[in-house]
Amino acid sequence: MTLSAPTPRVQPEPGLPARVTVYEVGPRDGLQAETDIIPSSIKAELCRRLYVAGTTNLEVTSFVSPAWIPQLADAAEVVAAVEVPSGARAVALVPNLRGLQRAVDAGIREVAVVVSATESFAKANLNNTRAGAIDRAVEVIAAASAQGIPVRGYVSMAFGDPWEGAVATDAVTAAAAELHAAGARTIALGDTIGVATPGLTTRVVTETLAAGIPLDAVALHLHDTYGQSLANVHAALRLGVAEFDAAVGGLGRCPYAKGATGNLATEDLVWMLHGLGIETGLDLRALAATTEWLSRARGIRAPSNVARALAAAGLDTPDTALEASQA
Ligand code: HMG
Ligand code: MG
Repeated sequence: MTLSAPTPRVQPEPGLPARVTVYEVGPRDGLQAETDIIPSSIKAELCRRLYVAGTTNLEVTSFVSPAWIPQLADAAEVVAAVEVPSGARAVALVPNLRGLQRAVDAGIREVAVVVSATESFAKANLNNTRAGAIDRAVEVIAAASAQGIPVRGYVSMAFGDPWEGAVATDAVTAAAAELHAAGARTIALGDTIGVATPGLTTRVVTETLAAGIPLDAVALHLHDTYGQSLANVHAALRLGVAEFDAAVGGLGRCPYAKGATGNLATEDLVWMLHGLGIETGLDLRALAATTEWLSRARGIRAPSNVARALAAAGLDTPDTALEASQA
């Protein structure tokens, strides 16, 4: 008897979006807190493999202070080494005008800014007040927009904060509205420490929509610290949200967010979306092969359940999957 290739059995659920944008943050959020400094060539190869796997929305790196995030001090080298396929995006996170200028000089044509719903994380992550960080993000949005550069806006600590506990939803929707009014095209609500549950997700998304952010401008950026992120995606899908962030292998966290662990793994998200009959344009096996390749290159196993299960099934070596997806 031969094993059949594991794939999700497809059973659509009425009322969910037919297609979802998966916004890949692996090379940025996934790597930013890793303590072994990863060579730029590996980071660039990671981006290349993600594009080959069908990624069209990729956050490649960040142009933040290298003293704050040493891992991504090589942002310009990575951008220079990655060829962006036609029709695909290469986005960089920038915390201020200095970062925007560095990104533009490196050839980036789309950026993301980050604010915090809470005072504590604005201070810990951006050395600013909550309002000061929003002002700085608005300044970046204005300067980028003047150059025709689209901007994505993250509102971090949108569901809970390690220092302040429960976060007032008004603080989230006010920050989201300010970024959107300034010109941010997408507002990514960040569960930076992974504490959201489906009812809370429903409430925060519903109130964000009620604050005037259009449905097609809302994305969710979920960390999987407490294993709730897929349940939260499902709750948001039921409200019509059709953009979700994920990191290949489930890597990632912010080093300035106490207690945070990895992002929702791209493979785990895609397994569920494909099972629901929702299109992503992504090749699940090539994503899992990318995780396997990176784990081997670093000697560190990534947390994705799906990548681990597919590797255990042993049906593809990393390179046969990559070659198949390139054929
Ligand atoms: P600061 O120390 O207050 O900055 O940091 P400053 O303006 O006083 O400048 C200090 C020095 O840093 C100066 O150098 C600047 O030039 C330099 P010096 O004159 O002393 O030699 N500097 C820079 N260098 C390179 N690129 C830059 C830059 N800016 C200043 N862009 C700052 C303030 C905002 C810069 C700092 O706090 C910072 O970089 N923070 C970013 C931290 C970070 O990247 N965190 C992770 C990303 S956010 C995240 O993961 C959450 C998210 O995933 C959503 C979620 O999960 O919810 C997005
Ligand atoms: Mg994050």
